[in-house]
Amino acid sequence: MDTAVIVAIDGPSGTGKSSTSKAVAAQLGLSYLDTGAQYRAITWWMVHNGIDITDPAAIAAAAGKPEIVSGTDPSAPTITVDGTDVAGPIRTQEVTSKVSAVSAVPEVRARITELQRSIAAGAEKGIVVEGRDIGTTVLPDADLKIFLTASPEARAARRSGELKGADVNATREALLKRDAADSGRKTSPLAKADDAVEVDTSDLTLQQVIECVVTLVEEKRAAK
Ligand code: DC
Repeated sequence: MDTAVIVAIDGPSGTGKSSTSKAVAAQLGLSYLDTGAQYRAITWWMVHNGIDITDPAAIAAAAGKPEIVSGTDPSAPTITVDGTDVAGPIRTQEVTSKVSAVSAVPEVRARITELQRSIAAGAEKGIVVEGRDIGTTVLPDADLKIFLTASPEARAARRSGELKGADVNATREALLKRDAADSGRKTSPLAKADDAVEVDTSDLTLQQVIECVVTLVEEKRAAK
Protein backbone atom coordinates (compact mmCIF):
# COMPACT_ATOMS: atom_id res chain seq x y z
CA MET A 1 0.00 0.00 0.00
CA ASP A 2 1.11 3.58 -0.69
CA THR A 3 2.32 5.53 2.32
CA ALA A 4 0.22 8.59 3.19
CA VAL A 5 1.79 11.80 1.92
CA ILE A 6 1.04 15.34 2.99
CA VAL A 7 1.44 17.84 0.16
CA ALA A 8 1.31 21.62 0.73
CA ILE A 9 0.64 23.78 -2.34
CA ASP A 10 0.92 27.53 -1.76
CA GLY A 11 0.96 30.60 -3.95
CA PRO A 12 -1.09 33.63 -4.94
CA SER A 13 -4.35 33.37 -6.87
CA GLY A 14 -4.35 32.84 -10.61
CA THR A 15 -1.34 30.50 -10.57
CA GLY A 16 -3.45 27.39 -11.22
CA LYS A 17 -3.27 26.32 -7.57
CA SER A 18 -6.83 24.99 -7.19
CA SER A 19 -7.03 23.20 -10.54
CA THR A 20 -3.60 21.65 -10.01
CA SER A 21 -4.25 20.62 -6.40
CA LYS A 22 -7.59 18.97 -7.20
CA ALA A 23 -6.24 17.11 -10.22
CA VAL A 24 -3.12 15.88 -8.41
CA ALA A 25 -5.19 14.65 -5.45
CA ALA A 26 -7.70 12.90 -7.74
CA GLN A 27 -4.96 11.26 -9.81
CA LEU A 28 -3.07 9.98 -6.76
CA GLY A 29 -6.09 8.98 -4.63
CA LEU A 30 -5.44 11.65 -1.98
CA SER A 31 -7.86 13.91 -0.10
CA TYR A 32 -7.98 17.60 -1.01
CA LEU A 33 -8.45 20.72 1.10
CA ASP A 34 -9.08 24.22 -0.27
CA THR A 35 -8.10 26.48 2.64
CA GLY A 36 -9.06 29.63 0.73
CA ALA A 37 -12.65 28.32 0.72
CA GLN A 38 -12.52 28.13 4.53
CA TYR A 39 -11.39 31.77 4.82
CA ARG A 40 -14.07 32.72 2.30
CA ALA A 41 -16.67 30.78 4.32
CA ILE A 42 -15.85 32.55 7.59
CA THR A 43 -15.90 35.88 5.70
CA TRP A 44 -19.31 35.02 4.22
CA TRP A 45 -20.61 34.25 7.74
CA MET A 46 -19.29 37.60 9.08
CA VAL A 47 -20.97 39.53 6.26
CA HIS A 48 -24.19 37.48 6.56
CA ASN A 49 -24.35 38.19 10.31
CA GLY A 50 -23.70 41.91 10.06
CA ILE A 51 -20.23 41.85 11.68
CA ASP A 52 -18.34 45.08 10.94
CA ILE A 53 -15.42 43.79 8.92
CA THR A 54 -13.52 47.06 9.35
CA ASP A 55 -13.34 46.26 13.09
CA PRO A 56 -10.74 43.53 13.85
CA ALA A 57 -11.96 43.27 17.47
CA ALA A 58 -15.50 42.46 16.28
CA ILE A 59 -14.13 39.86 13.85
CA ALA A 60 -11.93 38.35 16.58
CA ALA A 61 -14.88 38.12 18.99
CA ALA A 62 -16.99 36.27 16.41
CA ALA A 63 -14.24 34.03 15.01
CA GLY A 64 -15.19 30.99 17.09
CA LYS A 65 -18.91 31.06 16.29
CA PRO A 66 -19.49 29.55 12.83
CA GLU A 67 -19.06 25.82 12.30
CA ILE A 68 -17.18 25.30 9.05
CA VAL A 69 -17.10 21.84 7.48
CA SER A 70 -15.01 20.98 4.40
CA GLY A 71 -15.62 17.88 2.28
CA THR A 72 -12.27 16.62 1.01
CA ASP A 73 -13.15 14.49 -2.04
CA PRO A 74 -11.15 16.17 -4.86
CA SER A 75 -13.80 15.28 -7.44
CA ALA A 76 -16.57 16.94 -5.38
CA PRO A 77 -15.18 19.27 -2.69
CA THR A 78 -17.85 20.83 -0.46
CA ILE A 79 -18.01 23.61 2.12
CA THR A 80 -20.77 24.31 4.62
CA VAL A 81 -21.24 26.90 7.37
CA ASP A 82 -23.58 25.85 10.18
CA GLY A 83 -24.97 23.24 7.79
CA THR A 84 -25.62 25.65 4.87
CA ASP A 85 -23.93 24.92 1.54
CA VAL A 86 -21.93 28.09 0.76
CA ALA A 87 -19.92 26.88 -2.26
CA GLY A 88 -21.64 29.48 -4.49
CA PRO A 89 -21.94 32.49 -2.15
CA ILE A 90 -18.26 32.39 -1.11
CA ARG A 91 -17.20 33.19 -4.70
CA THR A 92 -19.09 36.50 -4.95
CA GLN A 93 -17.23 39.76 -5.50
CA GLU A 94 -18.39 40.95 -2.07
CA VAL A 95 -16.70 38.04 -0.27
CA THR A 96 -13.60 38.22 -2.51
CA SER A 97 -13.12 41.91 -1.68
CA LYS A 98 -13.46 41.32 2.09
CA VAL A 99 -11.63 38.03 2.64
CA SER A 100 -8.15 39.55 3.03
CA ALA A 101 -9.31 41.78 5.91
CA VAL A 102 -11.03 38.91 7.72
CA SER A 103 -8.20 36.42 7.16
CA ALA A 104 -5.64 38.88 8.57
CA VAL A 105 -7.18 38.67 12.06
CA PRO A 106 -5.04 36.36 14.27
CA GLU A 107 -8.08 34.77 16.01
CA VAL A 108 -9.50 33.81 12.60
CA ARG A 109 -6.19 32.30 11.53
CA ALA A 110 -5.82 30.35 14.78
CA ARG A 111 -9.32 28.90 14.43
CA ILE A 112 -8.95 27.95 10.77
CA THR A 113 -5.39 26.65 11.18
CA GLU A 114 -6.55 24.26 13.93
CA LEU A 115 -9.31 23.01 11.66
CA GLN A 116 -6.86 22.48 8.79
CA ARG A 117 -4.43 20.53 10.96
CA SER A 118 -7.14 18.21 12.24
CA ILE A 119 -8.39 17.54 8.69
CA ALA A 120 -4.85 16.78 7.49
CA ALA A 121 -4.22 14.49 10.48
CA GLY A 122 -7.40 12.55 9.69
CA ALA A 123 -6.62 11.96 6.00
CA GLU A 124 -5.60 8.31 6.04
CA LYS A 125 -4.37 8.13 2.45
CA GLY A 126 -2.72 11.56 2.55
CA ILE A 127 -3.88 14.95 1.41
CA VAL A 128 -3.13 17.88 -0.88
CA VAL A 129 -3.70 21.13 1.05
CA GLU A 130 -3.71 24.36 -0.95
CA GLY A 131 -3.41 27.87 0.45
CA ARG A 132 -1.04 30.70 1.28
CA ASP A 133 0.68 29.62 4.50
CA ILE A 134 0.41 25.83 4.45
CA GLY A 135 4.13 25.06 4.01
CA THR A 136 5.26 27.82 6.36
CA THR A 137 2.74 27.68 9.22
CA VAL A 138 -0.09 25.13 8.99
CA LEU A 139 1.90 22.03 8.02
CA PRO A 140 5.61 22.87 8.36
CA ASP A 141 6.41 19.12 8.38
CA ALA A 142 4.60 18.40 5.08
CA ASP A 143 6.34 15.73 2.98
CA LEU A 144 6.35 17.98 -0.07
CA LYS A 145 5.93 21.73 -0.39
CA ILE A 146 5.21 23.39 -3.72
CA PHE A 147 5.08 27.15 -4.30
CA LEU A 148 3.32 28.08 -7.53
CA THR A 149 4.04 31.45 -9.15
CA ALA A 150 3.11 33.13 -12.45
CA SER A 151 3.54 36.59 -13.92
CA PRO A 152 0.80 39.11 -13.04
CA GLU A 153 -0.16 39.16 -16.75
CA ALA A 154 -0.63 35.38 -16.94
CA ARG A 155 -2.58 35.34 -13.69
CA ALA A 156 -4.88 38.20 -14.72
CA ALA A 157 -5.54 36.57 -18.10
CA ARG A 158 -6.50 33.28 -16.39
CA ARG A 159 -8.70 34.93 -13.78
CA SER A 160 -10.55 37.16 -16.26
CA GLY A 161 -11.18 34.05 -18.39
CA GLU A 162 -12.65 32.30 -15.33
CA LEU A 163 -14.75 35.38 -14.59
CA LYS A 164 -16.20 35.12 -18.11
CA GLY A 165 -14.48 37.99 -19.87
CA ALA A 166 -13.92 40.43 -16.98
CA ASP A 167 -11.59 43.30 -17.85
CA VAL A 168 -7.98 42.03 -17.73
CA ASN A 169 -6.48 45.27 -16.40
CA ALA A 170 -9.05 45.61 -13.61
CA THR A 171 -8.56 41.93 -12.71
CA ARG A 172 -4.78 42.44 -12.61
CA GLU A 173 -5.11 45.44 -10.28
CA ALA A 174 -7.50 43.52 -7.97
CA LEU A 175 -5.14 40.51 -7.88
CA LEU A 176 -2.12 42.65 -7.04
CA LYS A 177 -4.05 44.46 -4.31
CA ARG A 178 -5.09 41.16 -2.72
CA ASP A 179 -1.50 39.80 -3.01
CA ALA A 180 -0.16 42.89 -1.25
CA ALA A 181 -2.68 42.47 1.58
CA ASP A 182 -2.08 38.71 1.89
CA SER A 183 1.74 39.07 1.74
CA GLY A 184 1.90 42.09 4.02
CA ARG A 185 -0.17 40.89 6.97
CA LYS A 186 1.58 40.21 10.27
CA THR A 187 0.16 36.75 11.03
CA SER A 188 1.36 33.99 8.67
CA PRO A 189 1.49 35.94 5.41
CA LEU A 190 1.56 34.44 1.92
CA ALA A 191 5.15 33.20 1.72
CA LYS A 192 7.31 30.52 0.16
CA ALA A 193 8.76 28.06 2.68
CA ASP A 194 12.56 27.75 2.47
CA ASP A 195 12.23 24.06 1.55
CA ALA A 196 9.43 24.52 -1.03
CA VAL A 197 9.91 23.69 -4.71
CA GLU A 198 9.01 26.77 -6.76
CA VAL A 199 7.19 26.17 -10.05
CA ASP A 200 6.63 29.15 -12.39
CA THR A 201 3.46 28.30 -14.30
CA SER A 202 3.43 31.38 -16.61
CA ASP A 203 4.40 29.42 -19.72
CA LEU A 204 3.10 25.99 -18.76
CA THR A 205 -0.27 24.44 -19.56
CA LEU A 206 -2.36 23.19 -16.66
CA GLN A 207 -1.59 19.63 -17.78
CA GLN A 208 2.15 20.30 -17.63
CA VAL A 209 1.89 21.74 -14.11
CA ILE A 210 -0.17 18.73 -12.96
CA GLU A 211 2.38 16.30 -14.45
CA CYS A 212 5.24 18.15 -12.80
CA VAL A 213 3.60 18.03 -9.34
CA VAL A 214 2.48 14.38 -9.73
CA THR A 215 6.08 13.42 -10.53
CA LEU A 216 7.34 15.27 -7.45
CA VAL A 217 4.76 13.56 -5.20
CA GLU A 218 5.57 10.12 -6.64
CA GLU A 219 9.27 10.70 -5.99
CA LYS A 220 8.52 11.60 -2.37
CA ARG A 221 6.27 8.56 -1.93
CA ALA A 222 8.96 6.28 -3.33
CA ALA A 223 11.53 7.75 -0.94
CA LYS A 224 9.30 7.35 2.18
O1 DC B 1 -7.36 30.93 -2.72
P1 DC B 1 -8.49 31.94 -2.57
O2 DC B 1 -8.42 33.09 -3.54
O3 DC B 1 -9.85 31.32 -2.55
O4 DC B 1 -8.24 32.57 -1.09
C1 DC B 1 -9.08 33.58 -0.59
C2 DC B 1 -8.35 34.42 0.44
O5 DC B 1 -8.15 33.66 1.62
C3 DC B 1 -6.99 34.96 0.05
O6 DC B 1 -7.08 36.28 -0.46
C4 DC B 1 -6.21 34.97 1.34
C5 DC B 1 -6.92 34.02 2.23
N1 DC B 1 -6.15 32.80 2.50
C6 DC B 1 -5.26 32.85 3.53
O7 DC B 1 -5.08 33.91 4.13
N2 DC B 1 -4.57 31.72 3.88
C7 DC B 1 -4.76 30.56 3.23
N3 DC B 1 -4.10 29.47 3.60
C8 DC B 1 -5.66 30.51 2.14
C9 DC B 1 -6.35 31.66 1.79
